[in-house]
Amino acid sequence: MTELYGDFRIDGPTPAVSADTLSGLGAETFIQSFGHLYAASDLEKFLHEKHGPETYKRLLDDPAFAVWVAADNDGTAVGYLVAGPCDLPVEALPPRSGELIRFYIMPEHQGGGLGRRLLDLALFWLHEQFDQVYLSVYSENLKAQRLYERYGFEKIQKYFFMVGNHADPEFIMKRMVQKQS
Ligand SMILES: CC(C)(COP(=O)(O)OP(=O)(O)OC[C@H]1O[C@@H](n2cnc3c(N)ncnc32)[C@H](O)[C@@H]1OP(=O)(O)O)[C@@H](O)C(=O)NCCC(=O)NCCS
Repeated sequence: MTELYGDFRIDGPTPAVSADTLSGLGAETFIQSFGHLYAASDLEKFLHEKHGPETYKRLLDDPAFAVWVAADNDGTAVGYLVAGPCDLPVEALPPRSGELIRFYIMPEHQGGGLGRRLLDLALFWLHEQFDQVYLSVYSENLKAQRLYERYGFEKIQKYFFMVGNHADPEFIMKRMVQKQS
């Protein structure tokens, strides 16, 4: 399904995008947002392990996962969001748990509402599949935490997210899905 959002075209939950395009976008947005935090060797190991085309091919081919991609007028991918079954180390993870797995917009397109539109679409899809939704966020990423808190997410646990051999302190946040009775 595609929709227009301002100057952008949003395509998902099964977008017509290649794994190579997503791999490039995934790596570029991670580097732009957090690359400065890591040693080159850790960053390289992480991008190879977590943002390679084979990783994105698996996500695109597996119906348990959903991907939304935003593209500008030239058709250039400028943001994306991945959602699916929860794979976070949540203590006593209940069944039917979902996760907001990856969420990035290129810096030059941030702060204009595009992220919230992707989040709205993803949370609607996640509500359909799961009873509770989790995400993890870097402990110093206060802006993103503010956005998630506005969507009803609460911090429930801390853990370390590995970027190569570098351990990053992260919060796991949870959003309870109110099932319509
Ligand atoms: C988080 C992100 C996807 C939100 O998309 P967006 O299009 O910028 O967001 P919107 O314009 O729809 O909403 C704005 C809200 O997003 C949050 N936000 C804005 N810029 C942000 C940034 N650079 N990093 C994190 N969150 C940001 C703020 O809470 C902001 O609300 P406010 O300005 O009223 O405080 C985007 O900012 C981004 O890619 N940030 C860098 C990577 C990141 O932090 N990803 C999330 C990892 S858990």
